[in-house]
Amino acid sequence: MRLTVVANRAPISRTDEGDWAPSVGGLTTALLPVLSELGGAWVAMGEEPDLPERQEYPAEDPDFLVRRVPLSQEELDGYYYGMANSVLWPLSHYMVQHLDLRDPFVENYRRVNERFAEAVIEEHREDDVIWMQDYHLMLAPALIREAHPEAVMGHFWHIPWPAMEVFRILPGARELLRGMLGNDLIGFHVEEYAKNFIESAEVLLGADVEDGVIHWQGREVNVEAHPIGIEVERFERMSASDNVKGEAEEVRDEFGAESLVVGIDRLDYTKGVLSRLEAFEEFLEKNPEYHGKVSLFQVATPSRTEVESYQQLKREVDEAVGRINGQFAEDHWMPVHYRYRTYTQEELCAFYRAADVALITPLRDGMNVVTQEFITATTDRGVLILSELTGAAYLLPEALQVNPYDQSGLAEAIRKAIEMPPEERRERIQALKATIRELNVHQWADGFLDRLTAQRDASSGQRAPSPERNSSPERRVEEQSTGELVDGGV
Ligand code: G6P
Repeated sequence: MRLTVVANRAPISRTDEGDWAPSVGGLTTALLPVLSELGGAWVAMGEEPDLPERQEYPAEDPDFLVRRVPLSQEELDGYYYGMANSVLWPLSHYMVQHLDLRDPFVENYRRVNERFAEAVIEEHREDDVIWMQDYHLMLAPALIREAHPEAVMGHFWHIPWPAMEVFRILPGARELLRGMLGNDLIGFHVEEYAKNFIESAEVLLGADVEDGVIHWQGREVNVEAHPIGIEVERFERMSASDNVKGEAEEVRDEFGAESLVVGIDRLDYTKGVLSRLEAFEEFLEKNPEYHGKVSLFQVATPSRTEVESYQQLKREVDEAVGRINGQFAEDHWMPVHYRYRTYTQEELCAFYRAADVALITPLRDGMNVVTQEFITATTDRGVLILSELTGAAYLLPEALQVNPYDQSGLAEAIRKAIEMPPEERRERIQALKATIRELNVHQWADGFLDRLTAQRDASSGQRAPSPERNSSPERRVEEQSTGELVDGGV
């Protein structure tokens, strides 16, 4: 069995020296070991001109093929910045105020999904397992299924799947759902998202559902929760290294506060950085006794900088930091230290270790692996304030959970975290560490692949489409359809 991973981003990138190396990121960490072991291909967009369409990697002794789908600027704008980042991203995170619905986005998304599907179809060999990733590629699975009815195909959705009533806001929600149902297995981080997906298929497409399995066009589509983890042992080792311990000390000396509250995020409106700053401002207003003693260190990594709502957010965050520091800074104390740049994992690890409190307050997040990294890297003193609107919150009841939209509640949680007695800190963080150790990223990849192959084994022989199932669910919806049930294009 070989593996074909299909993801928006390629797993390798060029180093400063001009060589190729694995890109840093959770997905690469999780999937490169299995892909290298099984062999196969990783199909991804070719976002820059002149990158090879087919590249064996590593060049000297190849384990797998990187197959790129070259995109024109127009395609990149419509498919990636447009449909993926200005439509599916805000909708899935319940942030409809950021929705930007434009026809060229949909058209380019369709075209690029077709091109991804063509590349997969070309590389496909009997017995391969196909593993799609995320919201960039919702239409490709059904196209691949048409060409290879026997293919074994799974899809992991790394962000929340919203409530059905929110998903149906999208014109063309049904076309996207039909695309996803080309898969045999669809994975989410938590049960809640899996339930939302099943309900979307049931209500919007009239699909039959039995025991959590969707029956669709003569096939079974399993929808399951597979929470992702991190490389816990590597993080534990890194955080215990002399280098990281030394850097953590330096950070604390540099900022000079008695208590250091740390936030680390991609600069994305879903991460709640602005509301967090406002909550910290309220904390300072209400608790003057902590002036000069508590600082917030916020790292924001630049992201999707060509999208207008991200540019706007950057301006608002810059302004909030300036306002808070302008109002509260004293001679030797800066309330907010803000860095808009990327850091290495080792540097981030030092920040986690330097933190007394991690403030992880997304307005919505599929999982949030920063939470897991903090829990792993911190010592017994670290307190986690965690938004209850993250996938991670379902797994981590011992965190101080907050509603990120509740500014006063957040300000109060900061005070509570700073004042938490050492024994309570230790108990909570030890319980959190125990949970995170169970969520290993390699187990996540193996677990999903095992389910996919098991499903293939179970269903081989049952693949011939049954006529009743094949035509009934969708036709029934069309028959019931009023104008509002008909697709308006994606
Ligand atoms: C989220 C998505 C990923 C995406 C990442 C970074 O975690 O689930 O698919 O790769 O954000 O976003 P970017 O647009 O830079 O790839």
